[in-house]
Amino acid sequence: LTCKMLRAIVLCLFLVILWANDIMGKSKQHEETGTYLPTWDSLDKRPLPSWYDEAKLGIFIHWGVFSVPSFDSEWFWWYWRGTKQANCVKFMEDNYPPDFQYADFAPKFTTEFFNPNDWADLFQASGAKYVVLTSKHHEGFTNWPSVNSWNWNSMDVGPHRNLVQELADSIRNRTSVHFGLYHSLYEWFNPMYLSDKENGFKTQDFVKTKTMPELYDIITNYKPEVIWDGDWEATPEYWNSTYIPSLAVQSKVSDTVVTNDRWGQGTMCKHGGYFTCSDRYNPGTLQARKWENAMTIDKKSWGFRRNAQLADYLTIEELLQTLATTISCGGNLLVNVGPSKDGTIHPIFEERLRQMGQWMNVNGAAVYKSQPWKHQNDSRTPGVWYDLVLYTTNQGKVYAFVFTWPSSGILALGSPLATSDAASVDLLGGESDITWEPLSPTGVGIYVPVIKPSTTSAKWLWVFQLTGFVNAKATQLKG
Ligand SMILES: *[C@@H]1O[C@H](CO)[C@@H](O)[C@H](O)[C@H]1NC(C)=O
Ligand SMILES: *[C@@H]1O[C@H](CO)[C@@H](O)[C@H](O)[C@H]1NC(C)=O
Ligand SMILES: *[C@@H]1O[C@H](CO)[C@@H](O)[C@H](O)[C@H]1NC(C)=O
Repeated sequence: LTCKMLRAIVLCLFLVILWANDIMGKSKQHEETGTYLPTWDSLDKRPLPSWYDEAKLGIFIHWGVFSVPSFDSEWFWWYWRGTKQANCVKFMEDNYPPDFQYADFAPKFTTEFFNPNDWADLFQASGAKYVVLTSKHHEGFTNWPSVNSWNWNSMDVGPHRNLVQELADSIRNRTSVHFGLYHSLYEWFNPMYLSDKENGFKTQDFVKTKTMPELYDIITNYKPEVIWDGDWEATPEYWNSTYIPSLAVQSKVSDTVVTNDRWGQGTMCKHGGYFTCSDRYNPGTLQARKWENAMTIDKKSWGFRRNAQLADYLTIEELLQTLATTISCGGNLLVNVGPSKDGTIHPIFEERLRQMGQWMNVNGAAVYKSQPWKHQNDSRTPGVWYDLVLYTTNQGKVYAFVFTWPSSGILALGSPLATSDAASVDLLGGESDITWEPLSPTGVGIYVPVIKPSTTSAKWLWVFQLTGFVNAKATQLKG
C-alpha cells in the first residue's frame, strides 16, 4: 500500500460518512416536517390547513362542454346517451341533426366573453375565500391543454385557451382568494376506462395513462390549494387514490393544500382532508370532522341551464340561511355557479354573489374564522343559529343569526347567559347597545330596535352580536 492509496481510501471513507450523515439528516427532517405515506392511516392524520376552516365560503364553478347544450344539467351527455332520459333524447331529436355527436358541441364552447379578471373580481366581491373550478368533469374534456387528452381539451378545440391557467393567474394576481380545482376521476364514455371497468377494474390502463399523468400535471403546474375529486364507482385501490393526496401534500403547495373525500367507492364521509359526504350535505348537527356543503344557486343543476326559471334559483335569504346552518355546525359552504359557453356569468348568479358580499361586509365578524358554539340553535326560538367568533382579546362573543325579523319587538333567546350587567347586544349593520334583560331561568330578552331603512345595512338575515354573555368554550374541530 502506498501512501497515495491510503490517502485515497481515507478520503473515500470520509466522503461516505458525509453522505450517510446527509441522508440521515434528510430523513430526520422529513419526520419533523411530517411526511405522509400513501395510506389513509397516514393521510387522515394530517391536520387540516387552518385557512380552509377560517374561510367558511367558497365558490364552485361547473364549466365545460356541457355548458354548450346547457340543457337539463352538466350530466346531459350521460342522460342523453347513457340512461336515455326522455327530455334529453327529445331535445336532441328536435334541435340537432340525427348524426350529431356530443363531441360536436365542443367547437361551440367558444368562451369569447370570458374575462378572467372580471370573474376574479366578482368572486372576491362575493366574500368567498376560495374558488374551485372544474378542470375536467365526467365528460373528460379538460379545461387546460392536457397532452393526455388529445383533441378533447380547451386548447385544441373550442376556446383555444388555457382556461385553468387564465383563471388561476387572475385570481392569484388580483385577489387573496385561494385557487382550487375539481377533477373527476372517472369519465363516463372513455373507452379505456370502460375497458378497465369491463375487466372488473383489474386492469389499470386508464389510471396509468390518463388519471395519474393528468393529476400530476394539474398539481405541479397549477398548484391548486383545493383538490376536489369526484368518484364513487371504482375502488380506491383501482384509482391508487391515496397516492394523489400524498403527492399533493408533498408538492409545492403542501402546507396549504386541502383535499376532499371522493376518492373512490367507500371513501366519501370516511377518508380525506375534509368530508363532502353527499351533494348539498347539510346535516343540521355539529360534526366531529370538518365538512363542506357543496350546493348550487340553481336548485336543479351545477352546469348552466338556458331554460332555468327565476324560481329555480335560491333567493338571497335562502342562500344566507344555508350559510348559517352550515357554519353553525362546523361546515364550509361551497356555492356553485354555472357560467355560460360564452364565458359569461349570468346576472342572476352575479347578483347573488354580490348580495352575499354585501352581507359579508356587514356580518363577516360572525362568519370568518368563527367556530361553532356550544349550542348550534336556540332552545327557545326555533330557526335561530349560533356561532362563536374568537377575538384576539380572548374574549368570546356570540353571534345569533335571526332568520325572521321579530315582529313582536322582543327577541327571546334561551341559550345565552349574561355574565354581568355590562354585557351588551348589538345588531350588526344596525343599532349598538340594544336594551336587553335576563330571562328566567336562563336566557336573554332583546328589545329589538326599529329598523330604519335609511340608516341600517342589516337585511336578509339579521345577526345580533352578544358580548359578555358566556364564557363559551369554543368547539375545536379536528381536520
Ligand atoms: C399574472 O401573473 C403571472 C405570473 O406572475 C403573469 O405571467 C401574468 O401575465 C399575470 N396575468 C395578469 C392577467 O395579470
Ligand atoms: C400508485 O401508488 C404508489 C404509492 O402507493 C406509487 O408508488 C405508484 O407509482 C402509483 N402508481 C401509479 C400508476 O401512479
Ligand atoms: C337544533 O339542534 C339540535 C341539536 O344539535 C338538533 O337536533 C335540531 O334538529 C336543531 N333544530 C333545528 C330547528 O334545526
